[in-house]
Amino acid sequence: MLDLLELNLKKAAQIIAEAKHLAAFTGAGISVESGIPSYRGQGGIWTKYNPQVLDINFFQENPEESWKHIRNVFYDYFAKAQPNAAHQILAKWEQEGRLKSIVTQNIDNLHHAAGNVNVIEFHGNSQVMTCTKCAEKYPAKQVNLDKIPPKCPKCNGLLKPDFIFFGEGIPKDAFEQSDFESNNADVFLVIGTTGEVYPAAEIPKNAARNGAKIIEINPEDSAFTRNFTTVHLKGKAGEILTRLDEILQTIVKE
Ligand code: APR
Repeated sequence: MLDLLELNLKKAAQIIAEAKHLAAFTGAGISVESGIPSYRGQGGIWTKYNPQVLDINFFQENPEESWKHIRNVFYDYFAKAQPNAAHQILAKWEQEGRLKSIVTQNIDNLHHAAGNVNVIEFHGNSQVMTCTKCAEKYPAKQVNLDKIPPKCPKCNGLLKPDFIFFGEGIPKDAFEQSDFESNNADVFLVIGTTGEVYPAAEIPKNAARNGAKIIEINPEDSAFTRNFTTVHLKGKAGEILTRLDEILQTIVKE
């Protein structure tokens, strides 16, 4: 007797094989197997740091304090992280023409690093910094973080990473592109997210309201599971996506 996960994997693979417009919505959980902690749950970033370090008003009033934690979490940690099997399978599926887009909440750049091109970064990314005074942009790799807060070489203004802080709006183009995906995808993979942060969490919900099937990959339940998820594959993203890809190879061959 096939176990429940195996049955769900076959069901999910069939749905993916028949998808006309497959999109993915990813959260911190997809990067856990790359060594980057998630935000919530056991060992999560928000269990060690106060989220106010990413509050835009706190940042502007306490740049040095905020930057100390930002460097620690988003640059020291992230810099060493490499894409894991989950990122690599999504890149393979884009190259095969199977996956049309990824809407990611993540700012770790691992989808780009794995080779995905159509990546909508809903919360911006950590690879670029912008001067809060003259708006000049700098690749994060060229900014010396030994001295914090980092200042603009041109006008000595305060530099800020290009990812979205609490209290900031979502980048307009990311918002519009994500809206297109939630109106056009007939299948949405929802990978490694609690679905607790808005407006990002609206994306899979809108897709489901538009009739899309939701395939959720997460060892735990999330805010999507009960009312929006069609098939819940309970497991780690790297393992589940590797298994799905194996099954899809057999379906294509039949
Ligand atoms: N594979 C898949 N999912 C996993 C794995 C794994 N190996 N490990 C953990 N998870 C799941 C957890 O069960 C949890 O549901 O990943 C999810 C991580 O949830 P969060 O830490 O809340 O991350 P996320 O949903 O991306 O947070 C959204 O919150 O703080 C803000 O801007 C930040 O983008 C972030 C947003």
